[in-house]
Amino acid sequence: MTEKEKYAFEWNNSAKYFYDNNRYKHLAAQIKKYNTVLEIGCGTGQSTLALLEAGHSVVAIDQNMYCIDKAKNLIKSSGYSITENIDDISSQTVCFVECDITDKKFEQDILPKIFPDIVICWNVGSYWDKAKINDAVPKMIEYGLTPEQISENIESSYCELIIWRACAIAKNKQCAIHIVERGEEKITRFNDPYYFLLKKEFRFKTIKYINTKATTLSKGGRQLITNGIVNTQNEIPIIFISVTMT
Ligand SMILES: C[S@@+](CC[C@H](N)C(=O)[O-])C[C@H]1O[C@@H](n2cnc3c(N)ncnc32)[C@H](O)[C@@H]1O
Repeated sequence: MTEKEKYAFEWNNSAKYFYDNNRYKHLAAQIKKYNTVLEIGCGTGQSTLALLEAGHSVVAIDQNMYCIDKAKNLIKSSGYSITENIDDISSQTVCFVECDITDKKFEQDILPKIFPDIVICWNVGSYWDKAKINDAVPKMIEYGLTPEQISENIESSYCELIIWRACAIAKNKQCAIHIVERGEEKITRFNDPYYFLLKKEFRFKTIKYINTKATTLSKGGRQLITNGIVNTQNEIPIIFISVTMT
């Protein structure tokens, strides 16, 4: 099994756990006024399914073809339509695109064809794959991280790169952004170490935080890494930190 296949298998279990506990339904409810959603990192599709169930049209991007395959199967078996036509997405329909959002190809070929009302980036920061090192490290350096910062914590460096790119995409499309990360502490305007800086950098006008207590599946799913340490318990308490910027 390749690393990407293994990832898809494990994440499918973690995402099913969230879906079964209505976590994606809760997140989709936070963005209900936005019709067309650009979903960055759709994974195995449980989040996409919750968006379709909530009435959205979705362009779902993922770099992992095994995740996209699982997502397509889930959406089809749940009775929703998949279209290949990215230019014309009707209501409660999804177009899947296999692509890395940090690649020029995404910027040049995909982005000009999409007109989202909101960009979402749910749990994507927690993703890291060693096979990406040669491609991702120069992009992290270009973004502004030092080699020391990167080698100290490559997972959080990747997280910063992806969230920053997601904000740049939302700004390019002049739409809102909804970022969701699994954290250990509530984040508000008063202890926000990071998102508020993004608001300033990208000149978003508003920022809203929602913190929700939840649990995540680690053992039996995709094991969660916190500060470089792998959590091996079954269920771990977390806070879903949702940040919306408009
Ligand atoms: C932890 S999963 C989250 C999936 C979904 N958002 C959810 O909450 O269930 C992260 C996904 O982001 C994808 N991903 C990570 N970096 C990406 C990139 N640069 N471009 C596209 N997809 C990416 C991974 O392949 C993975 O499927």
